[in-house]
Amino acid sequence: MSAKLLEGKTGIISGALNDKSIAWRVAELAHEHGARIVLTNAPIAMRMGEINGLAEKINAPIIPADATNQQDLDNLFTGAMEHFGGKIDFVLHSIGMSPNVRKGKHYTDINYEWYKQTLDVSAVSLHKMLATAYKKDAINEWGSVVALSYIAAQRIFPDYGDMADAKSLLESIARSFGYHYATKKKVRINTISQSPTVTTAGSGVKGFDGFINYSEEMSPLGNADALACANYCVALFSDLTRYVTMQNLFHDGGFSNTGVTQSVVEKFASE
Ligand SMILES: NC(=O)c1ccc[n+]([C@@H]2O[C@H](COP(=O)([O-])OP(=O)(O)OC[C@H]3O[C@@H](n4cnc5c(N)ncnc54)[C@H](O)[C@@H]3O)[C@@H](O)[C@H]2O)c1
Repeated sequence: MSAKLLEGKTGIISGALNDKSIAWRVAELAHEHGARIVLTNAPIAMRMGEINGLAEKINAPIIPADATNQQDLDNLFTGAMEHFGGKIDFVLHSIGMSPNVRKGKHYTDINYEWYKQTLDVSAVSLHKMLATAYKKDAINEWGSVVALSYIAAQRIFPDYGDMADAKSLLESIARSFGYHYATKKKVRINTISQSPTVTTAGSGVKGFDGFINYSEEMSPLGNADALACANYCVALFSDLTRYVTMQNLFHDGGFSNTGVTQSVVEKFASE
């Protein structure tokens, strides 16, 4: 590696469930770039235990937190500042879950209690994390918060169900809170809209195979994988991107600006 972009920086990384998780790659790469890290995940994910291997590898403590629970988030930010002996430079929100998608409930017939959970876990949790950090003044000036999104926030992908609504809300929260945090504390907030990626959450979407292959064919550079996403996260955590805030940044090999590709046209040609 030529330059250590995060030397001397400290960060909280949520959402590393197993070595397929995007957050897992981000944690490894941020560590390689010189950052000190606190890992967090829901207590239930902790029971699966795989995160312990990552924690050992990158020498990071784990502070369990259900991202919907205010008390847990208070403990997380206070505990992280205690561990670092100071404020935090970056936060990764890599959290998503929809009971409706998981249990195959059609979008036209969703369970509204589950819908609330989808929005709470996948989007409102970003607001709660930001509000907790803001009130505790836990993030250094020019600090950077990144949350992971998907293009279903802008366009319909039928099997993505109510997660599409959650991603729209997530991106809106990044924009709105980004304004307030920038003016008050010069903290940056962005979402990365990532290509479909083979992970536990990703593979939970019905027909994921067809979905990811279609996306591959519709992306001039091909789908971006988890490691590529981690590189983009590190760039956004670094001082090289100080004036980027309140953006939804497509990290998708060009998918979002492509009408059709030659290979897809050929599939539909009559001769
Ligand atoms: N995989 C994809 O195709 C893809 C594409 C674009 C965006 N994303 C987004 O990337 C993010 C990470 O997902 P992933 O694909 O790495 O899958 P993943 O399943 O590895 O990660 C999802 C994480 O959310 C955590 N989580 C769920 N409920 C929680 C709660 N209440 N509190 C705290 N943590 C909780 C899980 O424990 C898990 O670690 C999600 O926001 C997802 O929507 C994924």
